[in-house]
Amino acid sequence: MKIEDLKTVAILGAGTMGHGIAQVAAVAGYRVFLRDVSNEILENAKGNIRSSLERLAKRGRLSEKDLEAALSRISTTIDLKEAVKNADLIVEAVPERLDLKQRIFKEVDEAAPKEAILASNTSSLSITDLAKAVKKPERVVGLHFFNPPALMRLVEVVPGEKTSKETVELAMSFAKKLDKTPVFVKRDSPGFIVNRVLIPYLNEASKIVERGEFKVLEIDSAMQFKAKFPMGPFLLSDYIGIDIVYEILRVFEEKLGPFYKPSAPIEKLFKEKKLGRKTGEGFYGYKEGAPKVPEDAGAVFDVNRLLAPMINEAAKLVSEGIAETGDVDTAMKLGANLPEGPFETVKRVGADKLTGVLKELEKKHGKGYAPSAFLSSLKQ
Ligand code: CAA
Repeated sequence: MKIEDLKTVAILGAGTMGHGIAQVAAVAGYRVFLRDVSNEILENAKGNIRSSLERLAKRGRLSEKDLEAALSRISTTIDLKEAVKNADLIVEAVPERLDLKQRIFKEVDEAAPKEAILASNTSSLSITDLAKAVKKPERVVGLHFFNPPALMRLVEVVPGEKTSKETVELAMSFAKKLDKTPVFVKRDSPGFIVNRVLIPYLNEASKIVERGEFKVLEIDSAMQFKAKFPMGPFLLSDYIGIDIVYEILRVFEEKLGPFYKPSAPIEKLFKEKKLGRKTGEGFYGYKEGAPKVPEDAGAVFDVNRLLAPMINEAAKLVSEGIAETGDVDTAMKLGANLPEGPFETVKRVGADKLTGVLKELEKKHGKGYAPSAFLSSLKQ
């Protein structure tokens, strides 16, 4: 299949990511079938798509005519077969459970056209494992979007062990058609690029609170106003969803080791079903609107305390052959709206300083903080 022949897209799962992906595909001119298990979820998704498009229209990024045209390209259904039967590309965005995703892929494999691409928006599961559910793993690929898909410019394209070159190329071209920047992830590995760097950073912030060293507002304020991140780690955890953060950390703990175990505050919120913005409570309460983070609350928190372990994670990615430094920088800037990429921060702050912070942490809290050989090699 050539990219020009790709016209119809099915999105399976109409939650936070699914409805956002359906929206960007419809805006780009694709015919979209959006499927979920109940009409109520689908109605909700349509309402969310409309309100997001209206926000874009208000900012002049979309005309009223294009808004209505995009909406008219989206059909919703609770019937999986109906959704995928004419699709050239299917993106599954159902909850992060391997058994569920494999079951969906198996059904899609039987109901979709034989040449259709089967993409997964998984944020932490192995594409190789998912592909085991289908007869032709060559046509399975990771197509990982970021929240909110309407605004975040990155898409990670992840090959499984058997993914064909043609499938990867189509996925890269499709992302470009959606006006996104695709970054190719060289190896299927837990969390790919952005989540592998970002999610342990959220956990680290929470460990600092757990140890009683700093408070939520002090850290969020410092990271937002001093490090110039778009939001601090606790606001971001609530934005992504505590359940998503927790589940990704559990996968990391299992696949990468105990250093990635969810911290107690995250685990507590998860168990209490305080999942962040979507449930009205997480690290912050949302019932009376978005929380206000005071600009002066973070004066004493040293942002390198969080930047150093985060950059260490980025350096591990490079030494494990998952991505090059330039791609990690691009991915972090476009997938998390960071003001600079991790390796740009190394250049600005200096590898010596960052490894110094890590060695202190290693002395206090153990081997998980040991500076990676790659980060140490960047010393001037
Ligand atoms: N659709 C359309 N427009 C939207 C929107 C949406 N979903 N969300 C926000 N906007 C618009 C708003 O209307 C607003 O427009 P105006 O300025 O005209 O009012 C503008 O975008 C800015 O929004 P806000 O003022 O509400 O907030 P902001 O300036 O903080 O921007 C943000 C919001 C883009 C989300 C920004 O805070 C940000 O970049 N945060 C970090 C997000 C991030 O890291 N995402 C990745 C998470 S990891 C992930 O998703 C992967 C995974 O697998 C877990």
